[in-house]
Amino acid sequence: MEEVPAMPTQVVPVRSDDPEPEVIAQAAAVIRRGGLVAFPTETVYGLGADALSPAAVARIFDAKGRPAYDPIIVHVADSEALSRVAQEVPQVACRLAETFWPGPLTLVLPRAEAVPPTVTAGRDTVAVRCPDHPVALALIQAAGTPIAAPSANRFGGPSPTTAQHVLDDLAGQVELILDAGPTPIGVESTVLDLTQAVPTILRPGGLPREALEAVLGPVAVLEQAKAPETGLPSPGLLPRHYAPQAQLCLFLGPTEVAREAMRREAQAQVADGRRVAVLVADEDVEAFTGLDLTVETVGPADDLTTVARRLFGALRTLDAQKMEVILARDFGSRGLGLAIRDRLRRAASKVVEVSRPDDTQPQ
Ligand code: TXA
Ligand code: MG
Repeated sequence: MEEVPAMPTQVVPVRSDDPEPEVIAQAAAVIRRGGLVAFPTETVYGLGADALSPAAVARIFDAKGRPAYDPIIVHVADSEALSRVAQEVPQVACRLAETFWPGPLTLVLPRAEAVPPTVTAGRDTVAVRCPDHPVALALIQAAGTPIAAPSANRFGGPSPTTAQHVLDDLAGQVELILDAGPTPIGVESTVLDLTQAVPTILRPGGLPREALEAVLGPVAVLEQAKAPETGLPSPGLLPRHYAPQAQLCLFLGPTEVAREAMRREAQAQVADGRRVAVLVADEDVEAFTGLDLTVETVGPADDLTTVARRLFGALRTLDAQKMEVILARDFGSRGLGLAIRDRLRRAASKVVEVSRPDDTQPQ
């Protein structure tokens, strides 16, 4: 049954590099009166509300269907605003902000009193970032308040990289969507916890681990549940976030071997009469010719910027095509590869780790 929209949602085009002041003023007015505005950042579209208003923030949780235990990132226009939302700003936070802001890095710090517990899901820490997008920055400045914003998708869906994705998920739930075209990075920010003894990446994202380590030295990465080393599928082991309609299976290991395993699995699934798709790099396409399946490409395997940018859109496309099985390749753990792997792992109901026949350990 179609849901009756709770309110009309207006989609307003805005110049990405030089936003029209009157459009920004209109959006800022919505934020100031406690409404919701979806806006572009350099990573994905966010669903914004006045971070200092518990009532406005509560509307974010309602619109997304997001559980109250999941805290929201606070967006600021510059590093001076850090001290308004964080109780303490350690030296290392200043150094990181200086180096990487505006940009896809979120810092977890002790929460200032001014930030309502609704935003942080009752935690005494707050996640804060300064987005590298003229529209986002202009909106925060014009609103005159920090903006709390999760990704602007229904909870459990892939993050939106276009205004249309936001509309598909949240029509009738949000007053205004600012449409500045596709977001340049395509995966969410890197979340770095600075309240631990060792800075810890809670979520790999648009800022690669290597870039952080160049400034900080070694950082820790919060471990996801791992697939068993046996190469057997591991259903149910992973904390799923984005759960597509289809059963997604991620293949880890040397490219040639993974391709071969994917082809065999695809053949078997097609023979069982399922609608099968492979989510692969441009150069993988040849390996799947002659099979009755959908091939969705996300760019050359060595161009992770393109792969990241296209990843969520590809998952949405396959969902719209009502695929039953998606077999996805891995893109390694260097640079943006780590964030790409993380998103695919979370979407997967199964991870298969392959190795060369003569290897005792998977790569
Ligand atoms: O790129 C991004 O980060 C996008 C754009 C819109 O800024 N936002 C985004 O928000 O991805 P969301 O809510 O989808 O993801 C925020 C992540 C979640 O994993 C959440 O648990 C974590 O940040 N987070 C937020 N506050 C936290 C806190 N105080 N401590 C630990 N993790 C926190
Ligand atoms: Mg999200």
